[in-house]
Amino acid sequence: MNRANIRRILSLFHPYRMRLGAVLGLIVFSAGLDIISPFLLKAILDTALPERDDALLTMLVGGMIGIAVVGGVLGVYQTLLSNQVGQRVMHDLRSAVYRHLQRLSLAFFTRTRTGEVQSRIASDIGGVQNVVTSTATSIVSNATTVLASVIAMFVLDWRLAVFSLGLLPFFVILTRRVGAQRKEITTTRQETIADMSSIVQESLSVSGILLGKTMGRSDALAERFQSESARLAELEVRQRMAGRWVMASIGIAFAVMPAAVYWFAGQSWVGSAVSIGTVVAFTTLQTRLFRPIMSLLNVQIDIQTSLALFDRIFEYLDLPVDIRERETPVVLDRTTLRGDVAFEDVCFRYDEERWTLDHVSLTVPAGTTTAIVGETGSGKTTLGYLVARLYDADSGRVTIDGVDVRDLSFESLADAVGVVSQETYLVHATVRENIRFARPEATDEEVETAARAAQIHHVIASLPDGYETVVGERGYRFSGGEKQRMAIARTVLRNPPILVLDEATSALDTETERAVQIALERLSEGRTVIAIAHRLSTVRDAEQIVVLESGRVVERGSHDELVLAGGRYGAMLAGSGELEPA
Ligand SMILES: Nc1ncnc2c1ncn2[C@@H]1O[C@H](COP(=O)(O)OP(=O)(O)OP(=O)(O)O)[C@@H](O)[C@H]1O
Ligand SMILES: [Mg+2]
Repeated sequence: MNRANIRRILSLFHPYRMRLGAVLGLIVFSAGLDIISPFLLKAILDTALPERDDALLTMLVGGMIGIAVVGGVLGVYQTLLSNQVGQRVMHDLRSAVYRHLQRLSLAFFTRTRTGEVQSRIASDIGGVQNVVTSTATSIVSNATTVLASVIAMFVLDWRLAVFSLGLLPFFVILTRRVGAQRKEITTTRQETIADMSSIVQESLSVSGILLGKTMGRSDALAERFQSESARLAELEVRQRMAGRWVMASIGIAFAVMPAAVYWFAGQSWVGSAVSIGTVVAFTTLQTRLFRPIMSLLNVQIDIQTSLALFDRIFEYLDLPVDIRERETPVVLDRTTLRGDVAFEDVCFRYDEERWTLDHVSLTVPAGTTTAIVGETGSGKTTLGYLVARLYDADSGRVTIDGVDVRDLSFESLADAVGVVSQETYLVHATVRENIRFARPEATDEEVETAARAAQIHHVIASLPDGYETVVGERGYRFSGGEKQRMAIARTVLRNPPILVLDEATSALDTETERAVQIALERLSEGRTVIAIAHRLSTVRDAEQIVVLESGRVVERGSHDELVLAGGRYGAMLAGSGELEPA
C-alpha cells in the first residue's frame, strides 16, 4: 500500500473531523451498548430463570429492549452523519478535479481523449463513494464490536475464547491477498470504462455519427464497442469472484464454530465444567462476531481496491499546470489600454520534431490591422494562440503594450484579447445564452445589438423560437457561416481592444461571405487586429501583411508594396486568381 496516498486520503477528511468525531463517538457508544446484552442474557439464564426472580427478569428483559431501541435510533443518526461526511468528501474531490482541469492549458486537452476526463470524474470518483462514505464508520463500529466482544468472551471463559479465536490471523492474511488481486483487476476495469466512455463520446456525437455513417463504419464501431463491453463484463465477474472461495471458507468456519464450542465445552479434559448460561452467552457473542469480522475483512479489500481509484484521481490532481498566473500579475487598466501587440523573436514548438514558429518578430501598432497569410500548416493559428496565451513561447516574448503576456493577469489578458477562432463552439443552451456567455451581465438589448452588428440578428429573429432557440449538439444546428457570426457577436459583446480573427477555412457562399465580412469590418473598427486570412481578397486593406512560411516570416509590407516586390505574396495572389488589375 502506498503510504503517501493513504495520508492524502485521510487529509480529505480533515475539514470534517468534528463531524467524523461525533460519528465515531456514536458508534463506540452503541457498540458498547450492544455488548451488554449477552451479559443480561447470561443473568437471565443462570440466575433469573432458575431462581424464578420475576423482578430481576423484568429488569433484565427491559434492559435488553432498551438497548435495542437506543441502538436503532443512534444507528439512524450515525448513517445520516457518515453519509454527509462521505458525500462532502466526494464533492470536494469532484470539484477539485474539475477546477484543476480548468486550469490546465489547451495542450492537455489536445493530448487527452474525449471521454477519458469524463470517465475519471464520473466513474473513478463515483467508485470511491462506498469507501469514503462508509469505511471510517465501518472500521470503527466493527472494530469496537469485535474488540468488545473479544474482551467479553475472555471474561466469560478464556479457554473457549482462545479455542474459537485461534483461526482469525489466517483469515486476515488470506483477505489481504484477495485485496491485492482486486486492486489489480480494478485498475484494468477503470481503464476499460474510460475506453468505452471515449468510444461513446467520440462516435455517438453529431460529428461521430456523421463520420461513422458516411464512411460506412457504423457496424465496425458497434463491434469495437461490443468487444470493450464484453471485456468489461468479464472483468466485473472476475472482480466479484476474486476471493469468493476465501470468503466462503471463512463463512463456513464461522458457521460451524458454535457446534465446535459445544463440543469443546463438554470435553472432560478442559477442566472445570462450563455453565449453560456461559455457553449460550458465548456462542451468542461468537455469532454476533461473524458480521463485524466479515465487514472488517471486506473493508480491507475495499480499501485496497479503492486505492487503485485514488491513484487515478490523484494522478489527475497532480497534473502540472503549465500555464499559470504570476503571483503578482500586471493588471491592465481597460481605459488606458492602447493595444500594441508585439512578437519579439518568438520560437515555439508543439513537439521536439520541428519549430512551429521560428524566430518570429512582428509589431502590430494599436488600432491597425495586420493580416497573416501563408500556406496551411504554416503556423498562423498557432501565432494567434500565443497572443491569447493558450500556449507559452519557448523563447522570445509576446507583449501587449510592452508587457509580456506571461506577466499579465488572466483576467486582463482575457479582457484585452478577443479570439474568433476557426471553429465556433456553441454550447447546449439557447442562442441568447450562447452569445451572453461572453459577458454574463449583458442585457437582452446588448445581446441583440451585438447580434445585429454581427449580421446574425435577422437569422435568429426568423427562427420560430428566436433568441430562445436551443442550439448545440442536441439542438438546432447552425450553418458554418451562421456559427461564425454568432462567434463574432460574442466578441462584439466582450468588446476587446485586441482581436485575433482566425478566418474559417470553409468556403461560404458569396452572400454569407459578404455578411461575415461586414460583421468583421464592423468588429475591427478602432481595434488592433491580427487577421489570419485564407482568402486574399479580404486582406488588401490591411496596414500590414505578413507572409508566414513554415513558421518563419518571409515577407511583410502593405498590399501594394508586396505586389510590387513580386515575391511570395505576389505568387500567392497570382495562384489564387485574385490579382485584379489595379
Ligand atoms: N496540438 C498540436 N500538436 C502538435 N502539432 C500541432 C498541434 N497543433 C498544430 N500543430 C502543427 O503545427 C503546425 C501549424 O499549425 P497551425 O494550426 O498553426 O497552422 P495554420 O497555419 O493555422 O494552418 P491552416 O491554414 O490550415 O489553419 C501544423 O503543422 C500542425 O500540424
Ligand atoms: Mg489555422
